[in-house]
Amino acid sequence: MSQFIKRENFIPYNLPDITQAEIDEVVDTLRSGWIAKGPRTLKFEKEFAEYLGAKHAIAVNSCTAALHVSLLTQNIGPGDEVITTPMTFASTASTILHCGAKPVFADIDYRTGCIDPEEIAKKITPHTKAIVPVHYSGQVCDLDRIYELADEHNLYVSEDAAHALWSRYKGRLIGNKLRGAASYSFYATKNLATGDGGMLVTDRDDIAERARILVGQGMSHNAWNRYAKGGSWKYDIVEPGYKYNMFDIQAALGLVQLSRMEEMQTRRLAIAARYQEEFGKIDAVEPPFVPEFTTHCWHLYVLRIVPELLTIDRDQFIVELNERNVGTSVHFIPTHTMTAYQKLGWKEGDFPMAEKHFNRIISLPLYPTMTDEQVQYVIDAVRDIVEKYHK
Ligand SMILES: Cc1ncc(COP(=O)(O)O)c(C=O)c1O
Repeated sequence: MSQFIKRENFIPYNLPDITQAEIDEVVDTLRSGWIAKGPRTLKFEKEFAEYLGAKHAIAVNSCTAALHVSLLTQNIGPGDEVITTPMTFASTASTILHCGAKPVFADIDYRTGCIDPEEIAKKITPHTKAIVPVHYSGQVCDLDRIYELADEHNLYVSEDAAHALWSRYKGRLIGNKLRGAASYSFYATKNLATGDGGMLVTDRDDIAERARILVGQGMSHNAWNRYAKGGSWKYDIVEPGYKYNMFDIQAALGLVQLSRMEEMQTRRLAIAARYQEEFGKIDAVEPPFVPEFTTHCWHLYVLRIVPELLTIDRDQFIVELNERNVGTSVHFIPTHTMTAYQKLGWKEGDFPMAEKHFNRIISLPLYPTMTDEQVQYVIDAVRDIVEKYHK
């Protein structure tokens, strides 16, 4: 038995990595005379596209907005079906419903938590118009197989890359050489954080053109064009759009965070490597399996417990971590088990792999500002709980 000493301070599950550089850029923006969507948002779009090697990046106020607009660019609506995973956040399916289309869930590959392409294949009907694969936790979906199915059935692929900035599939960045579009989140907990924010990325001119109109109220010109010297006050509404644009205070954070991406990722990867090594030695927990084709950005560290070897379940494991001052989260409660979706006819038991995964998972603290001492403490806390409750 190891000697575990409880620390006094709580280790939060997540903290944003904000330095003086982010603070200075926000203050400069506040003093610049332009705080709405303007030059910084345009610069962030340009630099984000360059970072991924993508043709277009459209800055929006959330990944939810990006996912919604991505589907709208394809005129997806009533009578259409869109296949996605239940192991995701609310937005992935709700944006399908917001288009008036029907979400069709396909179960996950239990090894990774990502949607299983063979389950997608089983769900394709003549009504299927699109697939929304989620690069869960920073793992990447098996894209070759997904695009093969898309080609075979003429389907649009809208990648939910909320977790996947920096992740790579077979060595290529997610978001690079897209055939459809990818949606990113810059919510406070993400690898690049602007508080709230998102980006829609595509190489296709038709998608970018329509998306730019949809995210800006359907306007032919945005405010920056109109209010700049020489700009015209005239505008037209070419279709009823949405108020989905990013603004410059968010973009100020985004620009600095993007410039610090490699530095922040280096630390994330070091912490994840430590967790992988140490949790690999504990039989009652299961570190994430990372397939050969994946370069993981480690947005989340999703540890699975092995309930067969423990006298406590996942919920109690979380209570025990909390009592030891370790913050956690759970990604995700499967969408089909939520009230709104049960009302639409789904029920528990529909997606056994997602449900089995859900019953075992705990997201542990993982962020660049964690100290080595905190990382070691989280490892020791998990080990202590396993020792105490091992069968
Ligand atoms: C997988 C996934 N998709 C979409 C979203 C929505 O992102 P946002 O909060 O930026 O709208 C999230 C948010 O955490 C997410 O985890």
